[in-house]
Order: sequence, then structure tokens, then C-alpha cells
Amino acid sequence: MEISRFLADENSTLKMGAELALVLHPGLVIYLSGDLGAGKTTLVRAILRGLGYMGKVKSPTYTLVELYVVSSLNLYHFDLYRFADPEEWEGSGFREYFNPATVCLVEWPEKATGFLPPADVEIRLQIQDDGRGVTLVAITEAGRQCLNRLQNMHAI
Ligand SMILES: Nc1ncnc2c1ncn2[C@@H]1O[C@H](COP(=O)(O)OP(=O)(O)O)[C@@H](O)[C@H]1O
Ligand SMILES: [Mg+2]
Repeated sequence: MEISRFLADENSTLKMGAELALVLHPGLVIYLSGDLGAGKTTLVRAILRGLGYMGKVKSPTYTLVELYVVSSLNLYHFDLYRFADPEEWEGSGFREYFNPATVCLVEWPEKATGFLPPADVEIRLQIQDDGRGVTLVAITEAGRQCLNRLQNMHAI
């Protein structure tokens, strides 16, 4: 299952994040891919806003991961752009962050291919004219259920 939309401006990205926030549940792994500036961090920020998190959401460029505890979710935001050393994966304890009690949103998943647990949903963002194209792809049954709920929001 796949959903594609055009996000004409940042406000559309914020709305999409707010909708995604409503369908998240513990155990989900979501990959965000797309070039620098495609809007991955903006979408994560929008999801966190949707969950009610009002604090700062910085891109975890150097720390690689940031934990947010909000709306009874433990949400890990990874930015693996600078992830280079495979041995770092074991030493970092990142593996344990992926478990049935957490939601993991991962920017630059391709930087940790072979280590990263598989995604339930892949979100692909692309610069398109002045806006962004987004495609959400369900990989697992849990992911498909999420996207179904997302789609049904629009049917109402
Ligand atoms: N739908 C959109 N249309 C136009 N600009 C957007 C949209 N969504 C986000 N942006 C802008 O694009 C940039 C995306 O930056 P960022 O989210 O940091 O990208 P990434 O994390 O993919 O590198 C920001 O300047 C943001 O304001
Ligand atoms: Mg980013």
C-alpha cells in the first residue's frame, strides 16, 4: 500500500505530520528518505507538534539520536547522516532503542543498511517545484494499518 501527496508549502507538511501523529503507536519503525532539504526533519517536527510536544526539535546531526517522551510515547528521532562506523552501531546501544515500546523515526536509514531494523513505513520526500512530493509506503502489516487509518481520515 502506498499514499502519495503533494505538499505545496511547509504548512501542508505540518498538517501531514499532525495526521501522522494520530496513527502512530509503539513498536513502529519509520524511515524518512530524501535529499538534504527535502523536509525530513520538518516532518518529524510536525509529528512531534501533533503529539503535543512544544519544545525545541533540533536535527540530531551530531548526537545521531534524540529521545522525546510525549503523549505516552517514547519517540526516538535518528539522523544517521554522519553515521559512518559500523562498529559504532553495537557500541552505541542504538539497537536497544528499537523495541515494542518505542516509535523510531529514522532520517538517512541508508547510512546504516545492514544494522537498522526494517521499517514498517517508508516515507520518501522529494523537492517538487516550490513544494514537496511525499510517498508513504507500507512495508509491514502494522505499517499498512497505519496508512489505512491515515487514508480514512480523508474519506470522512
Ligand atoms: N511542503 C513544503 N514546501 C516547501 N518547503 C518546505 C516544505 N516542507 C518543508 N519545507 C522547507 O524545506 C526545508 C526542509 O528542511 P529540513 O526539514 O531540515 O530537510 P531535511 O531534514 O530533509 O534535510 C525547510 O527549510 C522547510 O521550511
Ligand atoms: Mg534532516
